[in-house]
Amino acid sequence: MFHETLDSFPKDFLWGAASAAYQIEGAFDADGKGPSIWDEFTKIPGKTFEGTNGDVAIDHYHRYKEDVKLMADMGLKAYRFSVSWSRILPEGEGVVNEAGLQFYEDLVDELIKNGVEPVLTLYHWDLPLALQEKYNGWESRETIKAFKQYCELLFERLGKKVTYWVTFNEQNVFTSMGYRWESHPPNVSDTKRLFEANHIINLANAEAINLFKEMVPEGKIGPSFGYGPVYPLTSDPSDVLAAENAHDFNNAWWLDIYCKGKYPVTTFKRLKRMGIAPTVLPEDEELLKSAKPDFLGINYYHGGTVKQNKLENPTENEETNKQFSSTDPYLMQPKDEQSQSPEVPMFQSTENPSLEKTDWGWEIDPVGFRVALRQVFARYDLPLFVTENGLGALDELTKEEEIHDDYRIAYLENHISEMKKSISDGVDMIGYCAWSFTDLLSWLNGYKKRYGFVYVNRTETDEKDMKRIPKKSFYWYKELIENNGKNI
Ligand code: BG6
Repeated sequence: MFHETLDSFPKDFLWGAASAAYQIEGAFDADGKGPSIWDEFTKIPGKTFEGTNGDVAIDHYHRYKEDVKLMADMGLKAYRFSVSWSRILPEGEGVVNEAGLQFYEDLVDELIKNGVEPVLTLYHWDLPLALQEKYNGWESRETIKAFKQYCELLFERLGKKVTYWVTFNEQNVFTSMGYRWESHPPNVSDTKRLFEANHIINLANAEAINLFKEMVPEGKIGPSFGYGPVYPLTSDPSDVLAAENAHDFNNAWWLDIYCKGKYPVTTFKRLKRMGIAPTVLPEDEELLKSAKPDFLGINYYHGGTVKQNKLENPTENEETNKQFSSTDPYLMQPKDEQSQSPEVPMFQSTENPSLEKTDWGWEIDPVGFRVALRQVFARYDLPLFVTENGLGALDELTKEEEIHDDYRIAYLENHISEMKKSISDGVDMIGYCAWSFTDLLSWLNGYKKRYGFVYVNRTETDEKDMKRIPKKSFYWYKELIENNGKNI
């Protein structure tokens, strides 16, 4: 029998775990912090599971030392976290809140003291509410100026201490959820506005990268993209073409801009015919081409499967669209009805008969992880940093205060094993951050859907003592880090 000979993980591979400010910090109005769009959105009845919000979350703001101590106990090499923009600029621009900057500097110092490499995300979805109210948020170029001020403050303060920076987290997800499915702020369903706002975010991403290169020449910066490979349901060439279309629309639409500075031509032409293409000024093209990321962050949960779209069955198509709305942002179809376009949708999402699913209906597809890493590396030739991958599951705390999350260990082990194969295939990988370090607030699913290596004792309705309890997966990951993935 043929066995693959696998390379070892690089000596300085960054084994890490991740989080995001709104999902862990709490302290939503402490020490001068201003409100973000999420502080407002989560208070709209019916938007989140059991009305949960991040006012308190898991109180990381007050307990960060305890959390970093646990990272050190685990031997974690890297910790990815995000900065809350409105903690630093309560109005989104203008007056600076020194206490906010100090909090993140203290966190970074604590990480470094404990031998953990900080990986800083500039934008993980919590836009200052003031910018939404004043400018309509990402629909205005004024917000780019505000973003530049925010970036400049952080580059100045932390540029010497933090090497790895992520610009935007999953731009594909937050724009689609926010401007199409009304399941994130700003709670809009309008594809024209979606593509205009998305273009402005592309410009903000490029500006941030160029500023970074000037101010932090030794550092590394790149966006984190929610990538999923797209499979054709069958070998029927029409299904294969549908998969190509879906890839262009869901992946290349963002990655081509980040890496080549231009939109993929097929999708752009199509959106143009539908009257929903973004407004691209000549100077935008220049800016987008000038900004080169140092690496690509990849968040991988799963891909998707599509087939040729048959117009004669529009109801089925509508059903599938609904199914992918709030719980599964990773595979979307253009919403033609809005533009009143007679165009046939480019593909139709469907079930993959070969894959099992999590309790929340997300496909479990470790081989797809290898496919994803291979595809992105081959197309864009940049080092990859896995900035998220993990399993959301119901965890049970036993009487002995233990969590036997063997299912999470199996999930992570299978994915890490495929990542190791992709390294052996030649993919250049910087590190891997599992989602997440501690349990945290799911944007839409409360505290039931847990991802952490560390259990946090609280529920949707009862904050309890928020005690941190390492799960079985904590000790498993600790050992894996110790031997640098040798036994995988
Ligand atoms: C990613 C986000 O899309 O998925 C994370 O970057 C998020 O912030 C994670 O928590 C899991 O999503 P969910 O909906 O299962 O909590």
